[in-house]
Amino acid sequence: MSAAYVGYQAPAVTVASSLPRRKAKSSALIVPVTSGGDDDSSARVVANPFLDAAATAEIEAALAALGAKGGAEQVTRVVAPSLPVGYVLAVGLGKERDEYPAEVIRRAAGAAARSLNGTETALTTLSELNLGAAVEGLILGSYRFADFRSAKTAPKDAGLRTITALTTARGQKDVAQKAADIATAVATARDLVNTPPSHLFPAEFAARAKALGESVGLTVEILDEKALEKAGFGGIIGVGKGSSRPPRLVRLSHKGAKPRGRNRGKKVALVGKGITFDTGGISIKPAANMHHMTSDMGGAAAVIATVVLAAKQNLPIDVIATVPMAENMPSATAQRPGDVLTQYGGTTVEVLNTDAEGRLILADAIVRACEDNPDYLIETSTLTGAQMVALGNRTPGVMGSDEFRDRVAARSQEVGENGWPMPLPEELKDELKSTVADLANVSGSRWGGMLVAGTYLREFVADGVQWAHIDIAGPAFNSAGPWGYTGKGGTGVPTRTLFAVLEDISANG
Ligand code: BES
Ligand code: ZN
Ligand code: MN
Repeated sequence: MSAAYVGYQAPAVTVASSLPRRKAKSSALIVPVTSGGDDDSSARVVANPFLDAAATAEIEAALAALGAKGGAEQVTRVVAPSLPVGYVLAVGLGKERDEYPAEVIRRAAGAAARSLNGTETALTTLSELNLGAAVEGLILGSYRFADFRSAKTAPKDAGLRTITALTTARGQKDVAQKAADIATAVATARDLVNTPPSHLFPAEFAARAKALGESVGLTVEILDEKALEKAGFGGIIGVGKGSSRPPRLVRLSHKGAKPRGRNRGKKVALVGKGITFDTGGISIKPAANMHHMTSDMGGAAAVIATVVLAAKQNLPIDVIATVPMAENMPSATAQRPGDVLTQYGGTTVEVLNTDAEGRLILADAIVRACEDNPDYLIETSTLTGAQMVALGNRTPGVMGSDEFRDRVAARSQEVGENGWPMPLPEELKDELKSTVADLANVSGSRWGGMLVAGTYLREFVADGVQWAHIDIAGPAFNSAGPWGYTGKGGTGVPTRTLFAVLEDISANG
């Protein structure tokens, strides 16, 4: 790593109230279109003050000739010689409505951005409908990761460099900047997930977290393997000891400015799973798709990106991220199925399956995070394959204290990450009984695996702390084709959910 790791650098975003006078080279105007009322009509441009009747007619005629219908995320490239841009990219919003949900705009912007093919400047009128969503979608849709491509396959162009968001509304500059900051945080999380395990191992991950944190004034503390051993972090040590690359625990603290008037200075703990690669350990995983386990630090990446964003946005609350990092490897020094370890805080655990490693490092981190007496604790992790069985690849499972769980899921729905509340049935606790220790790390059956993992974590949350656990095993990594503003690889989920919850707590306590 270079000493000055700064994370992802977003395209420049400007807000304008009219089209430019001169034609910018390598530019596109992204224009939303709808399918109107009936399916057979051709695409109609969403009325906006930037295109006059002649320009609108010119674009609609071209779309009709090409048979474009304006379906959601359908992208069509047309020439429009009368406009000061290289070409027009029409993007479908689906059926016409009075108001478009933010996620429809975000996905349309993302789909358009994925079709820019190296165009350097994107102007858009999507911003007249929802400027923040348009900017987020454009930045996230244009995201690409080429750090490990040599000249042989590296992109030949610089990609999207400038976004001009057209709007007649006033005071949108701050909205644009915030949207760009949010998208930058998501893209930074994606970068970390996409960095292969050869290059991102616990010490390197910790160094990047430190550089990111210090660049925005966070207090950063790193515990190395000796410090972890000494302080009794038995879960992190146990999981990490099979690897030649030792574990870390990183803590990043944001202190909110003293709130004026009513005291709303809440304290929020964030915890994220940072397994830089999960082979399963001695309970080794099958070879097929094992490389997807490069995403097993997706929770940690999101948590780090979020606390950095909280500092950038000057949130008036305290946010402390506690991030355990380890590589789960089989070796002569690895823990064995049947070993007993002592979690930080004293709970003993029989490790029946070394592939249920996430909960072992997380339990240590949760106990440590609760020592700060937070009002809320949000933990997120690529924890169980069972999450994907239950909810698929795009829907995070949210568990925890009833009220806070529902609040986190609601914010997640609003930002389009779509987390869904799941229960922690009381009876599952009995399935984690061990014959030799306080707890076993797995149950004897495969049913309700996501909920069993959540039940394990609940044992370590201090009384009185409102908590939520977000299982992102599927949603953290997109191994299927691209959709909306989500390309292949790391998705950055649930960074936007976490930030939305922090904003909610900042505003409402
Ligand atoms: N990191 C995996 C979970 C996972 C699976 C994430 C697929 C993303 C995609 C986790 O450490 C794991 O191996 N969980 C086990 C738990 C089991 C042993 C109780 C699982 O889900 O199989
Ligand atoms: Zn794992
Ligand atoms: Mn595992």
